[in-house]
Amino acid sequence: MHRNIILIGFMGTGKSTVGHALAAALNWTFVDMDERIVEKAGQSIPEIFAAHGEAYFRDLESDVLHELAGGAKQVIATGGGAVLRPANREVMLKGGLVVNLKADVETIIRRVKGDANRPLLAGDVEERVRKLLQERRGMYDYAHLAIDTSSMQVDEIVRTILTHAT
Ligand code: S3P
Repeated sequence: MHRNIILIGFMGTGKSTVGHALAAALNWTFVDMDERIVEKAGQSIPEIFAAHGEAYFRDLESDVLHELAGGAKQVIATGGGAVLRPANREVMLKGGLVVNLKADVETIIRRVKGDANRPLLAGDVEERVRKLLQERRGMYDYAHLAIDTSSMQVDEIVRTILTHAT
């Protein structure tokens, strides 16, 4: 069995929802990195971006990832941009099974629309999602396993991951 299971993927691919269910199925701890960052900073994600900028947020994100990766029996839902730094990808690969949750662009847009908690999608959400997906093309491909969640139920996704993890 792997030490941890680390979920990566673009915003709206189901990392938090699947992570919760997967952790419950394994009787492991679920950790949402964005929630840890908010606790650490004492500010919401939009507040961190507005007050300190994206680079500061990325530093906090890397710190939280390093702290978590040393632990065990955790399902870790990373933020969609946690893969941007190559060093983070290495930390994840050493920390456990890395699972890439994917979804088609229409599904992503439907899932993230109306959510004010994602500063990178401020403005025209559809345009922002398409542009960021383009910029991040290939960045999630280093995972051990990839699953397209677009037309799958959560329990089916969990079963698929468990099949590969055990
Ligand atoms: C981000 C994704 C968000 C959050 C932040 C930046 C990104 O997490 O970390 O808004 O750069 O893709 P989710 O993927 O959980 O939405």
